[in-house]
Amino acid sequence: MATLKLTDVRKSYGPVEVIKGVDIDIEDGEFVVFVGPSGCGKSTLLRMISGLEDISGGTIEIAGRVVNDLPPKDRGIAMVFQTYAIFPHMTVRENVAFGLTINRTDKATKAQKVQQAARILQMEHLLDRKPSQLSGGQRQRVAIGRAIVRDPQVFLFDEPLSNLDAALRMDMRMEIGKLHQSLGATMIYVTHDQVEAMTLADKIVVLKDGKVMQVGAPMDLYHEPANLFVAGFLGAPSMNFLDVTVDEVRGDAARVANEALDPIAVPTRGRAIARGDKAILGLRPQYLHPVADTEGQLHGAIALTERLGAETIVEVTLKDGAPLIAALSEDRVYEPGARIGFDFDPGRAQLFPRDG
Ligand SMILES: Nc1ncnc2c1ncn2[C@@H]1O[C@H](COP(=O)(O)OP(=O)(O)OP(=O)(O)O)[C@@H](O)[C@H]1O
Ligand SMILES: [Mg+2]
Repeated sequence: MATLKLTDVRKSYGPVEVIKGVDIDIEDGEFVVFVGPSGCGKSTLLRMISGLEDISGGTIEIAGRVVNDLPPKDRGIAMVFQTYAIFPHMTVRENVAFGLTINRTDKATKAQKVQQAARILQMEHLLDRKPSQLSGGQRQRVAIGRAIVRDPQVFLFDEPLSNLDAALRMDMRMEIGKLHQSLGATMIYVTHDQVEAMTLADKIVVLKDGKVMQVGAPMDLYHEPANLFVAGFLGAPSMNFLDVTVDEVRGDAARVANEALDPIAVPTRGRAIARGDKAILGLRPQYLHPVADTEGQLHGAIALTERLGAETIVEVTLKDGAPLIAALSEDRVYEPGARIGFDFDPGRAQLFPRDG
């Protein structure tokens, strides 16, 4: 187990800088999730931490030791990829033991470690099978088993579940959570899946264009996003962003309005908002409560209803023509074109300056 510290880490491919000065502090035993749009540099960061990729600048420390120039095998790290990377001609036992075989671990230790990993991952009954006789989830467990037997100080996972179907993903997500609890190891996990990020992470790192946008506990990022990007990135469906005008600022509240929104005072949360500004009002779909058109603060007409059973997603065209998504926690039917109003708790709204 180990701490991990990245200081001003950079990476360029030729003239193109893809990692632009990343600082991240990870505590011993922490589960850290990297999220961000495709191409933002998540895999590159993992590969640099593991040593598979050189860094162009900055320092990487593992357990207080700078590892910039250490080869991957000496960093105490194990990496699990999206594709299973297991050998088809070997049994599960041989696959799991692979790293131990190449570094000539003695037979008894090898057998004992494989057995232990198999027990943790509940695949003792699969040890003599070949990969072709396994499901996708079982194959990914073999890849994780191979990482466990090496007793790494840090586990790196790059979208390990993205090739699995939804039900299996959920099972494996819970298994990875339990694995973290039982091993207590430091883990860094890359995913595009919001649920994985929110449920597994002690800490989420949101990346964009090779830079860190915000680091924090999942609920802190969800409720107090540092900027428009994080606000729009976390949460499903995404936060609604309405163009509004600031009529008045008094203390830490601003009164905002537009053609579809009656004037309402919302908290500024210390952001740079001034009277007369054009600003962006962020409203999560879950915070909107439908009421009659004559009531509520927001007014529009139903464009589309998606009934999911326990939840209904309503797409609305607001009076000023802007789209709005509301997520209602019940089954509701609306006629397309019907006029509708929405209430919301102004304390939950997020007001951002236009530029961020
Ligand atoms: N070997 C390479 N040569 C040049 N550019 C590269 C190389 N590897 C990655 N890049 C670029 O670096 C950037 C970051 O890539 P990276 O694979 O880290 O993204 P990612 O966040 O993992 O994306 P995804 O979510 O799609 O996996 C991208 O713009 C990519 O095109
Ligand atoms: Mg990637």
